[in-house]
Amino acid sequence: MNVIEITAFGAPDVLRLGERPAPIEGLGEVLIRVAASGVNRPDVLQRTGNYPVPAGASDIPGLEVAGEIVSGDAQAMAAAGFKIGDRVCALVAGGGYAELCVAPVGQCLPVPAGLSDVEAASLPETFFTVWSNVFDRARLQAGETLLIQGGSSGIGVTAIQMAKALGATVLVTAGSDDKCAACLALGADHAINYKSSDFVAELKALTNGRGVDVILDMVAGSYVAREVECLAEDGRLVIIGLQGGIKAEINAGLVLRKRLTVTGSTLRPRSIEFKTAIAKALKDRVWPLLASAAIKPVIHSTFAAADAAKAHTLMESNQHVGKIVLTW
Ligand SMILES: NC(=O)c1ccc[n+]([C@@H]2O[C@H](COP(=O)([O-])OP(=O)(O)OC[C@H]3O[C@@H](n4cnc5c(N)ncnc54)[C@H](OP(=O)(O)O)[C@@H]3O)[C@@H](O)[C@H]2O)c1
Repeated sequence: MNVIEITAFGAPDVLRLGERPAPIEGLGEVLIRVAASGVNRPDVLQRTGNYPVPAGASDIPGLEVAGEIVSGDAQAMAAAGFKIGDRVCALVAGGGYAELCVAPVGQCLPVPAGLSDVEAASLPETFFTVWSNVFDRARLQAGETLLIQGGSSGIGVTAIQMAKALGATVLVTAGSDDKCAACLALGADHAINYKSSDFVAELKALTNGRGVDVILDMVAGSYVAREVECLAEDGRLVIIGLQGGIKAEINAGLVLRKRLTVTGSTLRPRSIEFKTAIAKALKDRVWPLLASAAIKPVIHSTFAAADAAKAHTLMESNQHVGKIVLTW
């Protein structure tokens, strides 16, 4: 089968079209003929040597696919309500940039009604990550306020729509006025251009000094101290990315006085059981919102898989809003 390989750690042109033997599914797994593969920032980190592949996962990049089930563990498929020929999207721990991909049955979800393969391939990584972090770890409730750092990212466009659909007020930061406008068009209540204004001061003004209940952070570094300032009493900060660095110095007094929670997680190395539980929650709570178009995939651009290097170059240029997808 054709795959996109990381031939060495480095710039986007280390991504090359190659050939590998087709993978063989095992117990509890299906084999998917991939129509489209989503691109995520963790793929860029893997390509540059900054995100090691978890034990047992494919070294081929790619954490999400959509396509057709071509074979699989009959018993597991029947138990999950799938059959050969079904269109699915799946979260995988690697191997997504390939014409064929093995996925645990529990990490597959049906392609929501009306969505194309490209749209479906854009869903799993950000939907699993946002659900797990914003709604499970940080326990965002209807009526609460969420700040999303990087609102126009693949993660951000999912978090905006999911949080709005489930009844939260949503504030975002983004690095340009155009990106702020895109976030507002997706339903965000307020967007702060963090390059032209101080997000701490703006957020305090917007919330009458109260602060927000939950912050989804993909920056960390010096942002953590400022985020601790932005949280309301009993606020929760959930860190999912380290684009601003791994070290943070915070005012621990604010953590005590406001009874804050600082947490974070990374999805890829978690167990199949853990991811299966997220898939079930998404199917019950979020897939109906995709079917009714209350939540829509946001596709910035698609590339033929052979042009994966161009897709990574675009992602690293930070010009995109939403998702970049490869097609086979
Ligand atoms: N923990 C997990 O399980 C998990 C899973 C998936 C992704 N992630 C992480 O989530 C992040 C987003 O991933 P993605 O695939 O959605 O990538 P993406 O679309 O490339 O988004 C990256 C975003 O970061 C924003 N950004 C960079 N510096 C910023 C700053 N100082 N303040 C605010 N925003 C800033 C950029 O926006 P501007 O251009 O506006 O600056 C851009 O929108 C990445 O850090 C990724 O590693 C974590």
